[in-house]
Amino acid sequence: MGPGLRLADLPWDDGAMTGEIGELNPPPRLLMGPGPITCDPRVLRALSTQLLGQFDPAFTAYMNEVMGLYRRLYQTENRWTFLVDGTARAGIEAILVSLISPGDRVLVPIFGRFGHLLCEIVQRCGGAISSIEAEWGTVFAPEQIEAAIRQHRPRVLAICQGDTSTTMAQPLDEIGAICRRHDVILYVDATATLGGMDLPVDRWQIDAVSAGLQKCLSGPPGSSPITFNQRVVDIVNARKHVEAGIRPAGYVAGNGVPIQSNYFDLAMLMDYWGESRLNHHTEAASMLYAARECARIVLAEGLDACFARHRLTSQALTGGLTAMGLTLFGDQAHKMPNVTGVLIPGGVDGETVRRLMLEDFGIEIGSSFGPLKGRIWRIGTMGYVCRKENVLHCLGALEATLRQCGLRAPPGAGVDAALTVYRAAAVSAPGSPPANAPATDRMPA
Ligand SMILES: Cc1ncc(COP(=O)(O)O)c(C=O)c1O
Repeated sequence: MGPGLRLADLPWDDGAMTGEIGELNPPPRLLMGPGPITCDPRVLRALSTQLLGQFDPAFTAYMNEVMGLYRRLYQTENRWTFLVDGTARAGIEAILVSLISPGDRVLVPIFGRFGHLLCEIVQRCGGAISSIEAEWGTVFAPEQIEAAIRQHRPRVLAICQGDTSTTMAQPLDEIGAICRRHDVILYVDATATLGGMDLPVDRWQIDAVSAGLQKCLSGPPGSSPITFNQRVVDIVNARKHVEAGIRPAGYVAGNGVPIQSNYFDLAMLMDYWGESRLNHHTEAASMLYAARECARIVLAEGLDACFARHRLTSQALTGGLTAMGLTLFGDQAHKMPNVTGVLIPGGVDGETVRRLMLEDFGIEIGSSFGPLKGRIWRIGTMGYVCRKENVLHCLGALEATLRQCGLRAPPGAGVDAALTVYRAAAVSAPGSPPANAPATDRMPA
């Protein structure tokens, strides 16, 4: 550095060198958007657990525990159930890039932004896309999907369970059987639904699924739990090419086209998570701790109890919003229980309301994308955030904020209607734990 030049004068200096950057101290927020949501404090504690070497037997034991925990969350016996490091789309990419060889036909039924994301990823994998589209706010009948399979003859069907952009959930219980009839591999993006909606992977004959932590699992973004069955393993292993430098003795490469990504190569990831523990990436240990705690928390509550809590909270929130005179978005018969779309009333600026909710009440709610931009708010009630007091806070805050913006909702109507839903549920199930928080932290054996 030349004479007279100070670090602080350099154009890229951002205060780090002059000590102006203080300790992290984010404002307290309640994240009630479509994800990420406020993290469960138990997951935050797990994140601060000391690291271990990735081949330390104590660490590989944690890896095995994680595989077991997510098998239970996914209701599957799939041996290959593990974490892909990265946000939810890392899991999507790992499955699609490993499954789809260039030229493979893939059918994507699109009912929101994340269907378009699946198309985009398939195209980057060299797949030949066929898509069908449902109007945003609706989903597909199984017959529509079967007709499209007959027409396009895909090798793979890729679909979301819940598309947070529209808040709609696609029923999947019949889709697996349809795919088997036509010898199609079924991949499901359950990023926004795992832990919040039923997804019995084996019973519904789903071949591969991926998810994320930052929604109903109450964790931070950055790890993607995936599961896939033997049909997928066979396709992936036919493309297996282990990188030079770690090839084990006797290694024979597969005949298929090499998987185009090294990081997302499921064949190599199986070797890493399996008994051979063949070196690949360095496992994101802190995220593994978080993912382990996320799954443990859901299973301690119980899957059915967790799904019921999301359904009840959805009823309370939607009851409150309609009592305030607001209109819900989309086909309510297929609404996701963990996100609620609500139309922004005429004459109200949606972004101003979001800003005031954040500034005055510390509550974050979401807007949406594409055709829904500026038309709806999305309110998330997922995982740790899916609690009675949050619903009541949010409704009260929204009522006050709308009043600030010139729109008068009947005073107290939203909170009262939500309370009525909770009281009715407590009467119909007396003695059961409050629909609020897990009753126990102990995982059943
Ligand atoms: C249905 C769905 N799929 C995929 C994603 C992408 O997840 P990420 O941002 O963690 O990569 C999201 C995120 O909101 C989602 O809701």
